[in-house]
Amino acid sequence: MTTPSRTAVVTGASSGIGAATARALAAAGFHVYCAARRRDRIEALAAEIGGTAVECDVTSEDAVAALADAVGERLDVLVNNAGGAFGGAPVAQADSDEWRRMYEVNVIGLMQVTRALLPALLASGAGAILNVGSTAGRIAYEGGGGYTAAKHGTQVVTETLRLELFDQPVRVMEIAPGMVKTDEFALVRFDGDQEKADAVYAGVAEPLVAEDIADAIAWMVTRPPHVNIDELVIRPRAQAAQHKVHRV
Ligand SMILES: NC(=O)c1ccc[n+]([C@@H]2O[C@H](COP(=O)([O-])OP(=O)(O)OC[C@H]3O[C@@H](n4cnc5c(N)ncnc54)[C@H](OP(=O)(O)O)[C@@H]3O)[C@@H](O)[C@H]2O)c1
Repeated sequence: MTTPSRTAVVTGASSGIGAATARALAAAGFHVYCAARRRDRIEALAAEIGGTAVECDVTSEDAVAALADAVGERLDVLVNNAGGAFGGAPVAQADSDEWRRMYEVNVIGLMQVTRALLPALLASGAGAILNVGSTAGRIAYEGGGGYTAAKHGTQVVTETLRLELFDQPVRVMEIAPGMVKTDEFALVRFDGDQEKADAVYAGVAEPLVAEDIADAIAWMVTRPPHVNIDELVIRPRAQAAQHKVHRV
């Protein structure tokens, strides 16, 4: 009898950190379910890595239920990566819809996917949940109120889940990246304004890239089942703290 391959779900697999993580987990031997809204991208990725594409908006309960159906009864790893920032106005000028969207994807979406896939993760006997938080979930910065509030949410949901599942065969972990230069994150945040997006990384000679985060995630989820990396904060060397970035 052949051993069934280990399986992983990566949400937000259509770009950036999620796509790199799907590739890293496939290279580590996982069959990866690549979930995101942009079907063409996840289909191309799934074909490249021998995985399965599942179109899924994590904020939709129906779409998440369909993802759980596609995965079936057993799952080894869930990477809740879908997320993002929208806008950068100070609280005094905040856009309520942008704030709702950030809470929806970074907190409620993460909860919905976790709730739907938890039975399959437990059924594996050694499941792992890896939530992609942010250093924005540790600090505050001007203009970041909606995103920092949402990513603080990601962090406390992770902690809550770890407490609630303390006697169950599943690990609950968070990675909190600092500045990562991905193609779309800042562009989405500033509504397609390339100049503003480029300014975020201007002069940073060696920012982190998606593959650096994917490498760390792959390491975290492939530790032995009794080893829980509660949280891992990861920044480029040039970013000593959120407000202290070395630019040349
Ligand atoms: N880049 C950074 O500096 C940085 C730092 C710390 C943390 N992070 C976090 O890392 C994660 C990935 O960021 P990234 O830099 O790789 O950004 P990105 O390239 O913009 O990726 C975001 C991903 O989330 C997916 N997504 C967005 N809304 C979704 C929804 N409703 N349902 C399903 N998928 C959804 C997007 O795919 P579709 O549009 O196809 O659905 C995309 O694949 C996010 O959680 C972000 O907050 C990023």
